[in-house]
Amino acid sequence: MLVSGRGTNLAALLAAEAAGRLAPAEIAVVVSNRPGVRALEIAAAAGKPTELVDHKRFAGREPFERALLAALAAHQVEAVVTAGFMRVLTATFVAAYPLRIVNTHPALLPAFPGTDAPAQALAHGAKIAGVTVHFVDTGVDTGPIIAQRAVPVLPGDDAESLHHRIQIEEHRLLPAVVRALAQGRLVCEGRTVTIRPAPGADAADADADQLV
Ligand code: GAR
Repeated sequence: MLVSGRGTNLAALLAAEAAGRLAPAEIAVVVSNRPGVRALEIAAAAGKPTELVDHKRFAGREPFERALLAALAAHQVEAVVTAGFMRVLTATFVAAYPLRIVNTHPALLPAFPGTDAPAQALAHGAKIAGVTVHFVDTGVDTGPIIAQRAVPVLPGDDAESLHHRIQIEEHRLLPAVVRALAQGRLVCEGRTVTIRPAPGADAADADADQLV
């Protein structure tokens, strides 16, 4: 997992892993580009390896990403989850994990990409906000959409209250997508991602993993 901040999505993935709801995915390492963030504390408390790859210590994106890739390779990482990771990845990094990098974003993309999405939705007067989990490409929140959940904007919402309600959905959706990715159930054709049912799953299982 690549993180930069609070790590609530990391905590949700760790809880899913502990409950057996992430298998066959395992969180191999948590890498932050910022020192001293809460996400690193959460990872360490859960006994996960952590790495700091501080972008400020590198002369540019290329050496920064080389260090990131080396940290991931050292932990035999096969897929990458970015959650609140506030660096845009270049084509070199994306090509190292083709259709194996997923990001979560607190808006119904393609609306409100970038930073402060809940505040953008409020400023625009949107009535429905939400969360999108998508494959990462070289744009800002532009990759093929894997799954979305809508969250209504309520009268009196501010950016914090709206983001909080979006995160309740986000913390359910992201672990379900990570599991589906590890199970090889995500099929991407052009921009269209299909989520195949889990082998042997009946309708109740499908409901339980919230995806199909
Ligand atoms: C999450 O809500 C994530 O969707 C958002 O940052 C938050 C990180 O929270 N990401 C973006 O806005 C990316 N454009 P967390 O550190 O508690 O998981």
